[in-house]
Amino acid sequence: MKRLTIAIDGYSSSGKSTMARELAKRIGYVYIDSGAMYRAVTLYALEHGMVGENQEIDSERLSASLPEIRIGFEPAGPDGIQHTLLNGRDVEKEIRTMEVSSSVSPVAAIPEVRNHLVKLQQALGEEGGIVMDGRDIGTTVFPEAEMKVFVDASAEERARRRVLELQEKGTPAAYDKVLENIKERDRIDSTRAVSPLRKAKDAVTLNNDRMSREEQMEWLIELYNSIVSHAENN
Ligand code: DC
Repeated sequence: MKRLTIAIDGYSSSGKSTMARELAKRIGYVYIDSGAMYRAVTLYALEHGMVGENQEIDSERLSASLPEIRIGFEPAGPDGIQHTLLNGRDVEKEIRTMEVSSSVSPVAAIPEVRNHLVKLQQALGEEGGIVMDGRDIGTTVFPEAEMKVFVDASAEERARRRVLELQEKGTPAAYDKVLENIKERDRIDSTRAVSPLRKAKDAVTLNNDRMSREEQMEWLIELYNSIVSHAENN
């Protein structure tokens, strides 16, 4: 059976990572969370004093440090979650804190950071059989991907989900603050000069405001099956 490249893009906390991970598991593909890579670079910048009080980034120093930033993934362990490694250290928990979330959009807007990570992402997907989620996967990383999904949900619904997620992880946060952070990230991600968050022309939109996780999976699997059978019949 043909192994596709699947791009899942969308807004922060739209649930796309959960969907992408689950889809990859069900169809036996590799899952890559590209946002985790931007988060790992952000953590590196924070740990090396490259982020100012107002989230201004020392982009020159960070760009010069990129060759020293090794990002990897550890296959899913007992928690079923793939862990992100920064220079060999498991940083899965640290990259999800509000501190990293507040600085990641300006880091992801630096062209050198994007060029570097896009190349890494393309190398990871060379063989196909991959589900990658992010903001520019269908537009820039894999413009030729056979399956492209754009996930949409209201900022309020996304903030509600994010608060629950943070609570479950033992790092509670106030709804208003989370909502503000989500709106600010939407603004920066959608208006940056390089690869802004945009729906690819050939992507299919999924608005999941009122969909359960299982309904979303059914929708995705149906789309996947129709693309596979179309590819096999042509
Ligand atoms: O999906 P996430 O919230 O973990 O992503 C973290 C940040 O990284 C988000 O603000 C946008 C950015 N990002 C990006 O610019 N391009 C990607 N392919 C993935 C994430």
